[in-house]
Amino acid sequence: MLPCQKSLFDLPDDEHYLNCAYMSPLARAVEAAGAGGLARKRVPSRLSPTDFFAETDRARTLFARLVNVPDPRRIAVIPSASYGLAVVARNLPLAAGQNLVITHEQFPANVYPWRKRCAANGTELRVVGPPEAAAERGRLFNERLLEAIDARTVMVALGHVHWTDGTRFNLEAIGTRAREVGAALVVDGTQSVGAMPFDVERLQPDALVCAAYKWLMGPYSIGFAYYGPRFDAGEPLEETWIGRRGSENFKELVNYQDEYQPGALRYDVGERSNFVLMPMAIAALEQVLEWTPEAIQAYCAALTGDLVDRLRALGFGVEGLDGRGAHLFGLRTPPGVDIQALAATLAARCVHVSLRGSAVRVSPHVYNDARDVEALHDALAASLQAR
Ligand SMILES: Cc1ncc(COP(=O)(O)O)c(C=O)c1O
Repeated sequence: MLPCQKSLFDLPDDEHYLNCAYMSPLARAVEAAGAGGLARKRVPSRLSPTDFFAETDRARTLFARLVNVPDPRRIAVIPSASYGLAVVARNLPLAAGQNLVITHEQFPANVYPWRKRCAANGTELRVVGPPEAAAERGRLFNERLLEAIDARTVMVALGHVHWTDGTRFNLEAIGTRAREVGAALVVDGTQSVGAMPFDVERLQPDALVCAAYKWLMGPYSIGFAYYGPRFDAGEPLEETWIGRRGSENFKELVNYQDEYQPGALRYDVGERSNFVLMPMAIAALEQVLEWTPEAIQAYCAALTGDLVDRLRALGFGVEGLDGRGAHLFGLRTPPGVDIQALAATLAARCVHVSLRGSAVRVSPHVYNDARDVEALHDALAASLQAR
């Protein structure tokens, strides 16, 4: 079992930060990598053309290792999950009478592109929700998703866990069903990749899109996306010079090339060789790979196991560990709890969680310890007494 990793961070001692699903803190090493990157532009002569390629290649290799992609050239550098999903939306042929399947209360970046495309093409957007009753909520939610996929489904787009409450989606079963009908499987891994194992070889998504500022522990405004063979001949959002074959040779850039760089490199954002953000993303990915997503899950499960039992005894609803992420879970409050008063109690005690949809979202990481969990328990118990 990993010991607590708080010493690698600069989190204040009097705060209980259980909100990595909002934004991860920067480890000291990641912050130092950013400062080093910033200082490099003081003397531009020290930035060689090789630097435009070597660092992004390293980041691609690390992300590819994390999600088990044999060829790092299948990884694109993106500035946001929205951008990565826009690439999919640009390259998904749609027609009237077909349908796309997404989940209820999905993160808006993974909803708006589909609403727009569906409206323009007369395609149905099927939004699949959980059952009302709490019993077996996760299992039935997954069953409903499978039932919604039919011969006219073009794409299923969802997370590995639901961003509001951590409900875990069975991507193995959903992917198998999607392949049976020829639909694309598009996964927004922003709330899971880094903290929960993800295996592209096994799950075979057509696209996996991740912003890096949450569970990849990186800076804001950078992310990574895997695009499978379905997108090999697609059209990028931008016609970047660096995405064209032979762009390594700066002297020959005006010898214009019609061909793109191989794999998913055509989908890289313009100025993808960001000399501040890229070293930070690399340092963050190295750290995540050293911890391993398996060990992060185990740490979070051990840290919060007893808490979950005690909160259930107080009347809070929490999905069982087999139906959700250990790193992200939603608490449904007992009847009569005033959510605004609860938020105020948490804030007064410096306990940081999020209110998302109908859930109090708790998202621990390896920098959290028993004190953080105890502070959350005490604040929630106090909010019940105030009823
Ligand atoms: C599931 C999910 N996807 C994506 C994002 C962020 O999207 P973007 O990188 O486009 O800002 C969030 C942020 O909360 C999220 O929860």
